[in-house]
Amino acid sequence: MELPSSIERILLDEATIRARVDALAAEISRAYSDEDGLVMIGILKGAFMFLADLSRRLTIRHHIEFMALSSYAEGDTRSGAVRLLMDTRTDLAGRHALIVEDILDTGHTLDYLVRMLGARQPASLKTCVLLRKPDRAEVDVHLDYLGFDIPDVWVVGYGLDYGDRFRTLPYIGALRRPG
Ligand code: IMP
Ligand code: MG
Repeated sequence: MELPSSIERILLDEATIRARVDALAAEISRAYSDEDGLVMIGILKGAFMFLADLSRRLTIRHHIEFMALSSYAEGDTRSGAVRLLMDTRTDLAGRHALIVEDILDTGHTLDYLVRMLGARQPASLKTCVLLRKPDRAEVDVHLDYLGFDIPDVWVVGYGLDYGDRFRTLPYIGALRRPG
């Protein structure tokens, strides 16, 4: 396969992602099989593809919600400031909520989400993240479900972007550094 010139190498190909998402979906289906009303909360935009694939493979009933937060381009990453752009449409009180996020980098985004959603009295609140960069962690956030640990490189594809580009690549690739 010929790669776009901005992609240095493929870190996770389609088959690898698919197999891991299958396994996560099976694990989540088992964990919530006795519960009613699982709400999967996808964090826009990066998690849209992961959420779509994961949700189609769940064998249990569930609802889909979305939230949107400010991104690096809009916010000051050094301060760890996160801003809520769009909230869920349904009340989470008494529901089993599962946050579905694309990537854990410094951890500030997920930390903010867990605190905010935790305050809404859900019956339970768990986290499911496709990628984690362990070398970048600044705050410690508990992950219940994790797809892959990856090195500290900027990754794109399978929902993840660089300046809103590359989201629709079917694989996860490392972006070539400028220069
Ligand atoms: P955190 O708050 O530093 O953990 O950042 C998490 C957010 O930063 C993710 O939801 C992504 O939107 C974005 N992000 C961090 N690293 C990458 C990357 O390598 N590629 C694309 N987006 C990333
Ligand atoms: Mg994101």
